[in-house]
Amino acid sequence: MVNLHGSTAVRAGRYLLPLVFPACCALWVLLFFPSPPVEVAVFRQSFQPNIALTGQRAVDTTTPWPSERREMVDTSSPPPPLPTERHGVINAPPPPLAPARQARTEVSGQAGTETPSPPPPAVATDRNRCAGRYIYIHDLPSRFNSDLIRDCRSLSEWTDMCKHLVNAGMGPRLTRTGGVLPSTGWYDTNQFALEVIFHSRMRRYDCLTTDTSRAAAVYVPYYAGLDVGRHLWGFSNGVRDALAEELFEWLRSSPAWAAQGGRDHFFVGGRITWDFRREGGGEWGSRLLLLPEAKNMTMLAIESSPWHGNDVGVPYPTYFHPSHAGEVASWQRAVRRTRRPWLFAFAGGARAHDGSSKNVNAVVRDAIINQCARSRRCGLLVCGARGRRNDCYAPGNVMRLFKSAAFCLQPQGDSYTRRSAFDAVLAGCVPVFFHPGSAYVQYRWHLPADHRRYSVFVPEDGVRNGTVRVEDVLRRIGAREVAAMREQVVRMIPSIVYRDPRVKAGDSFRDAVDVAVDGVIERVRRIKRGLEDDVGHQWDAYFDK
Ligand SMILES: *[C@@H]1O[C@H](CO)[C@@H](O)[C@H](O)[C@H]1NC(C)=O
Ligand SMILES: *[C@@H]1O[C@H](CO)[C@@H](O)[C@H](O)[C@H]1NC(C)=O
Repeated sequence: MVNLHGSTAVRAGRYLLPLVFPACCALWVLLFFPSPPVEVAVFRQSFQPNIALTGQRAVDTTTPWPSERREMVDTSSPPPPLPTERHGVINAPPPPLAPARQARTEVSGQAGTETPSPPPPAVATDRNRCAGRYIYIHDLPSRFNSDLIRDCRSLSEWTDMCKHLVNAGMGPRLTRTGGVLPSTGWYDTNQFALEVIFHSRMRRYDCLTTDTSRAAAVYVPYYAGLDVGRHLWGFSNGVRDALAEELFEWLRSSPAWAAQGGRDHFFVGGRITWDFRREGGGEWGSRLLLLPEAKNMTMLAIESSPWHGNDVGVPYPTYFHPSHAGEVASWQRAVRRTRRPWLFAFAGGARAHDGSSKNVNAVVRDAIINQCARSRRCGLLVCGARGRRNDCYAPGNVMRLFKSAAFCLQPQGDSYTRRSAFDAVLAGCVPVFFHPGSAYVQYRWHLPADHRRYSVFVPEDGVRNGTVRVEDVLRRIGAREVAAMREQVVRMIPSIVYRDPRVKAGDSFRDAVDVAVDGVIERVRRIKRGLEDDVGHQWDAYFDK
């Protein structure tokens, strides 16, 4: 939701987007795979655990969590209680107690025991269950991943990443949310922690192989975002690129690379793609994605490029990391039932104008904050200079607001996307987007192809020039239509959350990692068959300015 490194994107925007926009329109490659019908799949997942996955793991190559990570458990005092004052405008009732209690019961009943699900189908064997789904994980030297966690003090000047990387990347458990959130499954997760969460999940993927010739895809557990993130401010370009260049040298000399020239390899970027795309003469980020090896690989990133084919958007991590299907279903029931006194809501900060009115994002932000502040039907949580900064960083505050609104406004942030869009979905709040780059061209494996089913699109031009009032647009949407959209959003929850990575694969639901891995496998299959990605052009007009 909030970019913890506010100046990052101001700079990224200032230096990078002006270069990127003109350079890239010709390369506008949008790939819409014949992905599984998300709605249908998610509907099934929401209500019944996937019993096909209950068999034994095919190849257990899971290694125990390195001991240095265990030592990082936050031993500081518990967080202070949330402020009781609700920022004036936030006045939502606490969630119904029943679902929360139920969630607790289910979780405690499950903890550490075998799955209570029906027995696995007798005929299912690892061989047929995993056919075409095997993943090989590169055993990288520790400097590419766990050393970065060990040296977590150096990862950010502003944020205590040591605190945020505990619990397999989920961060410290949230225990005091004043009844806003259930007492299990919720963590103070940093938006840049995805690489660690994803790696932790992949260690327990149920179809791992140590035989590269059987692998449908090859995972490279390099923490690309943590690596570049520590060098974005005040380091030379050479320092920013060094580890990525070393990685590619290492990969090129590995037997697994040779078979496909790395085109079956994938890795995760827990930062936006622009942090890895320093063009010639540019000053921001690393050149990682411009290196020839990276061009053969697939990167899963929290924000992908609309103009380049080899990175694909995956959801930002949210605060919810359920362990099993019952915990998700319980939360879905809670957000279906919650009272939503606000028609719409916004949580976020104003953006710097840099002394000119050219910063479109800042102008749109101001307009949205002003429209919300003036409306009696909008709940507003202001961050940064104009608000009390910490309000926006307290997960309970954000979730309380989003659970009490029908629509949640998601203007561009420092870049196209915001974590807040996924916090909104998680709260059953229908997202309102102002630019297609904020979601529709990003998360094509995780969001339904038809954006009207789960979101509202209000082109930002009208908001910027003052001719469109968001409230008017939203009021025109009928109650039945709002309810249908909300139901769609609630059904999307399982596939946009990252399951607790410490829980064994098996009796569970398909989460964001499962969807992403299936997407990668299908993409690699197409690449091997020499098929081009499907190109969509629906949104081209919004990008070629
Ligand atoms: C990328 O893939 C192509 C096609 O397989 C291959 O010829 C090329 O050598 C690969 N690039 C690198 C850097 O390995
Ligand atoms: C405002 O923007 C909308 C959408 O681009 C456009 O149709 C309209 O003409 C603009 N109005 C003014 C007064 O600039």
